[in-house]
Amino acid sequence: MAKICLWTYLFTLIRVSCLMLGATADSDCSEDNLPIEGGHYTLSKGVKVGSVLVYNCPSGYYSPVRSRRCLGNRKWDPLPKRSRPTRPGLQCKLVRCPHPLGFQHGSVSPLQDKYYVNDTTTYECFSDYKLSGSETRVCNANGKWSGSTPICSRNSDHCPDPGVPAGTRRTGNEFYIGDKVTYRCEDALTLIGSNERTCKESGEWTGQEPECYYEYTYDTPEEIAEVFSKSIQTTLTEDMNKQQGKKINLDKDGNLHIYIALDASDSIDISIFNQSRDVIKQLIEKISDYEVSPKYDIVVFATKVTKIVDITDYYKRTAKKLFEVIEDLDRFDYGT
Ligand SMILES: *[C@@H]1O[C@H](CO)[C@@H](O)[C@H](O)[C@H]1NC(C)=O
Ligand SMILES: *[C@@H]1O[C@H](CO)[C@@H](O)[C@H](O)[C@H]1NC(C)=O
Repeated sequence: MAKICLWTYLFTLIRVSCLMLGATADSDCSEDNLPIEGGHYTLSKGVKVGSVLVYNCPSGYYSPVRSRRCLGNRKWDPLPKRSRPTRPGLQCKLVRCPHPLGFQHGSVSPLQDKYYVNDTTTYECFSDYKLSGSETRVCNANGKWSGSTPICSRNSDHCPDPGVPAGTRRTGNEFYIGDKVTYRCEDALTLIGSNERTCKESGEWTGQEPECYYEYTYDTPEEIAEVFSKSIQTTLTEDMNKQQGKKINLDKDGNLHIYIALDASDSIDISIFNQSRDVIKQLIEKISDYEVSPKYDIVVFATKVTKIVDITDYYKRTAKKLFEVIEDLDRFDYGT
């Protein structure tokens, strides 16, 4: 394209055609400096304006830049760095797990500055302390340690020692009724779970054990399934006396609100979108086997948001039937 423009520059009469050619050419992006070492990328619409580039690294590695969008005029957002022969360009990097820096009343071995995928740590308690949780943990490809938080404690308090999960710092070392412990994550890690927990009369802690996530840390489908089924199980209690474990009564206030958001943006491949849609349909159908009628709120979001069912509809006469919700999910056109 540059050549054509130079040529037309000399013949100002046909300059207009250059601009027109230039307009189509300029609005696209180029694939210069995009490749990632150790991985590959996909483009949703080639190098056309609006195309989304997604980087893929093998399991156990992550890309420091997850995606880019072609803004036109050969500009990607974010811009790739010009690769200089002396400096490495974009590379897939080894996944790390949060440091078990807060482990108390015992020792971690080996003690390292950083722990990478497949690194193994073992935990030992000082004498007088008993270990609960995992004695050995391996750093998994999703950025989390296998097993559960190792805790060294002397069982004398009302609540058990809530531990110091990898990556966290804890304040609070009293575990009697009403005592609080607070957590924060080291560095720029994001805390998922409870940053504050209180010792209850029942001898349990409020909330959930905190976890520290890197930007690339993710939950495996198995982890999600476990948390999801646990939360449904605690919301729904089975009345075993009536029918063979089939009748389910809603706990407490008898309301179950399920919110689902489905990502249909360009960075999500249509086959992945289809799979997610199938999972949601299966989930709705499975739950409808129980004698509960949860209220659903389902949105599909891309550049615009499409509401499949609105939770407030259930409080109107116009509420959609379950099969209509499923039909509407099916009808959603990914392409638009
Ligand atoms: C981690 O170990 C597994 C099993 O030995 C291996 O397949 C995988 O390639 C290793 N991952 C990395 C990033 O080295
Ligand atoms: C996704 O689902 C739609 C609608 O069911 C179907 O037409 C399309 O072929 C599917 N695409 C892929 C890639 O699975």
